[in-house]
Amino acid sequence: MEIFIDSASITEIEGWLNMGVIDGVTTNPSIMLKDGIYDMEKGAKDIAALINPHPLSVEVTTNDLDEMITQAHKFAAWAPNIAVKIPQETQDGVPCYGVIHQLESEGIRVNATAALSLGQVILAAKAGATYISIFAGRVGDEGGNAFEVIQNSVEWLEHWKFNSKIIVGSIRSVADVLQAAMAGAHIITIPPQFIAKMADHKNTRETVKQFFTDAEKALEMIEKAKR
Ligand code: E4P
Repeated sequence: MEIFIDSASITEIEGWLNMGVIDGVTTNPSIMLKDGIYDMEKGAKDIAALINPHPLSVEVTTNDLDEMITQAHKFAAWAPNIAVKIPQETQDGVPCYGVIHQLESEGIRVNATAALSLGQVILAAKAGATYISIFAGRVGDEGGNAFEVIQNSVEWLEHWKFNSKIIVGSIRSVADVLQAAMAGAHIITIPPQFIAKMADHKNTRETVKQFFTDAEKALEMIEKAKR
């Protein structure tokens, strides 16, 4: 299973990358805005260069299918490790699978994003998407069962031998991460604050503190014995 970081913060990305625990980065326009990246081109180029050859997902910012193709060509030319995020459908309900299919047939990697159902996952896989992003938190917001959607999607892809990889995003807690991992997600994209929470446990800190204190006491004993 791979871990991506769901962030546009260079500091967070660099920190976790150097620890060897992340395999890629996902962004969207809301994440870019939150992390203070207003110049998308510069921000994407900086992140792509930092994490190369790991993949960076950058999302199109239009509802027009032709414009999505134009933007995707532009984004893909920024760096060789950029995957372009195309939604399942526009805000008006127009399916975007034709865009996904065309870009993948041109050799541009697509992250078919904002999937909330197995039906969408099946269509995105048929269209040839390299990655399909299931938004676990948003599935749950509507009373859906994210575990079931993830598990069924992975099972279906593997049964029919599709190469698309499921990325689980929209993570709202460490429990969401663990649930996605146990449901068989190929990749989970995690906001930095939850990667930090995964690393931390009060009892680990206390254990380390106890060992450190006892090691100091042992040194004191050696010093005392010398006197
Ligand atoms: C991942 O690719 C998405 O950009 C992200 O996880 C969406 O999360 P949200 O539902 O918190 O906006």
